[in-house]
Amino acid sequence: MNTEQQSASKNRLSQRVRRDPPVGETSTTGTAWTVEDAKELYGTERWGMGYFGVSESGNLTVNAPTTRGVQAIEFTEIMEGLQQRGLNMPVMLRLENLVDDRITELNETFARAIQEANYRGDYRGVFPIKVNQQSHVISEIARYGERFDHGLEAGSKAELLIAMSTLPSHESLIVCNGYKDAEFIDLGLQAQRIGFQIFFVVETPNEISLILERSKHWDVEPSIGVRVKLSTKIDGHWSNDSGDRSLFGLSTVQLIEIVDRLRTANMLHCLRMLHFHLGSQIPNIRNIRDGVNEACRYYIDLIAEGAPMGFFDLGGGLAVDYDGSGSTEGHSRNYDLHEYCVDILDCVATSLDRENIPHPTLITESGRWTVAPMSVLLFNILEVTDFQPHELPDPLPEGIHQSIDCLIETLNHITTRRLQENLNDAIYYRDEARKAFQDGKVSLRERAIAENICLTILHKIAAQAPEMRRPSASILSIKDQLSDIYYGNFSVFQSLPDAWAIDQIFPVMPVQRLHEEPTRHAIIGDLTCDCDGQLNKFVGNQANTSTLRLHELNDEEYCLGVFLVGAYQETLGDFHNLFGDTNVVSVRVSSEGRLQFVHELKGDSIGDVLSYVEHQPQEIYGKFRSRAEEAVEAGRITASQQQEMLQLFDESLRGYTYFES
Ligand SMILES: Cc1ncc(COP(=O)(O)O)c(C=O)c1O
Repeated sequence: MNTEQQSASKNRLSQRVRRDPPVGETSTTGTAWTVEDAKELYGTERWGMGYFGVSESGNLTVNAPTTRGVQAIEFTEIMEGLQQRGLNMPVMLRLENLVDDRITELNETFARAIQEANYRGDYRGVFPIKVNQQSHVISEIARYGERFDHGLEAGSKAELLIAMSTLPSHESLIVCNGYKDAEFIDLGLQAQRIGFQIFFVVETPNEISLILERSKHWDVEPSIGVRVKLSTKIDGHWSNDSGDRSLFGLSTVQLIEIVDRLRTANMLHCLRMLHFHLGSQIPNIRNIRDGVNEACRYYIDLIAEGAPMGFFDLGGGLAVDYDGSGSTEGHSRNYDLHEYCVDILDCVATSLDRENIPHPTLITESGRWTVAPMSVLLFNILEVTDFQPHELPDPLPEGIHQSIDCLIETLNHITTRRLQENLNDAIYYRDEARKAFQDGKVSLRERAIAENICLTILHKIAAQAPEMRRPSASILSIKDQLSDIYYGNFSVFQSLPDAWAIDQIFPVMPVQRLHEEPTRHAIIGDLTCDCDGQLNKFVGNQANTSTLRLHELNDEEYCLGVFLVGAYQETLGDFHNLFGDTNVVSVRVSSEGRLQFVHELKGDSIGDVLSYVEHQPQEIYGKFRSRAEEAVEAGRITASQQQEMLQLFDESLRGYTYFES
């Protein structure tokens, strides 16, 4: 290329860089955007179970079921209330009406299905405490569950103490799973003495001797269940909870050993429950049917062995449709609650009727289905990094490195027919420029120019890619590489641990501006200094996506909600980078549609999280005070400056661990 050609090429380049709209800013529909488009894009009606909607003014609403029908409240009203109460973002918002509704729906759907199927047994639900142990949540479950005698499942001594002290009705069941020492069993026997119906579910053969010994000691007859390892395997993430190698449950050999030990001890009449748990979040109803059919064989044969039985506990597994696809993918499920109830009842009745065995009381330990919709993590966006090319110096410097000339040449010859070649060239010459920079042949400014031109080329290729018949994976991935990063005021590790640990997809969407078309494509970064601290899998309207469409920031605070996070997330979270528990607020919507802030819990202060990792705030303060005092003595600061510093230090210890504006 001669000098003239070069400068012509540079001029064309400068014009193009300024004119072209960046990827993601082009209008996507061509027609005016409405809130219906927002519902479709974010899938509120697919994953929201009817609990979330969008108002005409573009705000997300919670559709709270009340005794006088559904009352819609805008999230902006809730956020105003949070602000008035001095509760900064991030906030874990609990919507109490939803817990009430879920427990009611679970119990009433089973009751209806029992009638429809002429099933001659009862249904009793128990909530597994491990799914959300927070005191206020368990109290609400106990309160709303009282009219159905909804019980609790405890997997440890601590959880058993919660169950014994919280359940209002003695008719509610307490199911004790997990490994049990003498103290665990003693506690359970005390609960039985005061009138609770409590089941000790035997997980290992050794437990049975201890249960029998402690029952004799207290002179209380235990109700015993046996947890069996079914060979039915489930699809989805928790497939290892079932099958021969599952960690929990008894093999058939161990089960026979237990039956024999109970018979020898003259206690076989205490064996009253069959328990199994195929796994959490079972996506395929077929697996549930198969598991129930197999479990029925165990139930029938335990009766044949002489155990009275009477209770059939299916454990958890009732799945949540996190991505709204209604499929057998791990984040979804191909059945609804009614089908779940009917299929279970049908399988049990059919199997037992053949043997003339009375229908047992059915128990489910549905955790995530009961509480997932209740909680929404709300956080504000602090900043955005985009990958837009910047304006280039005009004219470009003389004698520019050859690799940069070649990048300009590539930019000027982009055509849809040769996009792959254009991409290959852009990456090759960009890498050449980087190499030349390392060899000292390209200056920092020139390297910036090279990166900028390459970025411009990538944007152009991404814009033309939809015209290609069969774009390659490398072409398709450009869009993701160019997506924005929206930095959110939260910690993935603290508030959404499953998104990090097991790639769980949670629905994420803005809670306002839904009447405006979102023009940006983004991933979400959190506050931690960890590259895993990001959300990059989102619910899409066709398939799940690696970027989320968001609005360009304006002067107003921009808040996102992460939905269906009421199960497992709150207590599994950790203190990575010492970001602590968020503020938590429970709201209830009255039957007149009034928003009530019924419970609030301030998040951890910096002093709190420091003490969790054994740094005592007072000690830290004392050490810093001594440092500052030395500085006063050395004349580096004055005594009043020292006071200012100590005040700041003290306020920080009492402050929120998250970003405060
Ligand atoms: C024994 C037992 N019961 C119930 C549950 C709750 O399962 P889910 O939340 O899927 O209903 C679990 C969780 O894995 C469990 O291990």
